[in-house]
Amino acid sequence: MSRVITFGAVSFHVAVAASGRGSNLDALLRALDPDGPISVDLVLSNRGDAGAVALARVHGIATAILGDADDGLAWLSALAMRRIDLLVLAGYLKLIPPAVVQAYQGRIINIHPSLLPRHGGPGMYGRRVHEAVLADRNKESGATVHLVTEEYDCGPVLAQARVPVLPEDSAETLAARVLAMEHRLLPEAVRQAAKAGQPVSFEFDWAETASREL
Ligand code: GAR
Repeated sequence: MSRVITFGAVSFHVAVAASGRGSNLDALLRALDPDGPISVDLVLSNRGDAGAVALARVHGIATAILGDADDGLAWLSALAMRRIDLLVLAGYLKLIPPAVVQAYQGRIINIHPSLLPRHGGPGMYGRRVHEAVLADRNKESGATVHLVTEEYDCGPVLAQARVPVLPEDSAETLAARVLAMEHRLLPEAVRQAAKAGQPVSFEFDWAETASREL
């Protein structure tokens, strides 16, 4: 069953691109209010075996497996078919084709597991990000939601959620602490985008998002 969620005449159609296990997609789907204005209508991936793709299928969400992830036309036709308002990158680890960035200017967001501009850029994902934070002896880390441009992790920051880095942290313990924040920050960014009709910057408040449905 596709999560088509309407609120009066209003609906906000979201596509999620993911390359990996899909815990951020899962957090977003869990946060959705079945009677709310937001629907996740499409999951795109460059990997047919991604956990995010399996999750989408469990939820009855349409999937697009991109044989050539650099083929902008393939992205654009999949997005246009579902009248997508917002494209969310949730662990999508390749560059978005320039034609897609241009067509969806200001309507693509990404979540990154550090306080950008620190520890972003090509090759900076997953464990490597947290190892870099520990190597730099940063006292805090966190998650960033930002607008997507044609370069990795460079677009304007919309919101950040901060966590402490503890003296005993390993890359795994730090990743888990940041991921818990991601799971609140990303749904809140989608909620804010739906409310405004496009992605907007906002102050992230952990306590306020604790019991919120979208
Ligand atoms: C998340 O930590 C996300 O921030 C990161 O990949 C992970 C995906 O996890 N993205 C990047 O590093 C992008 N540069 P998930 O598949 O469980 O949502």
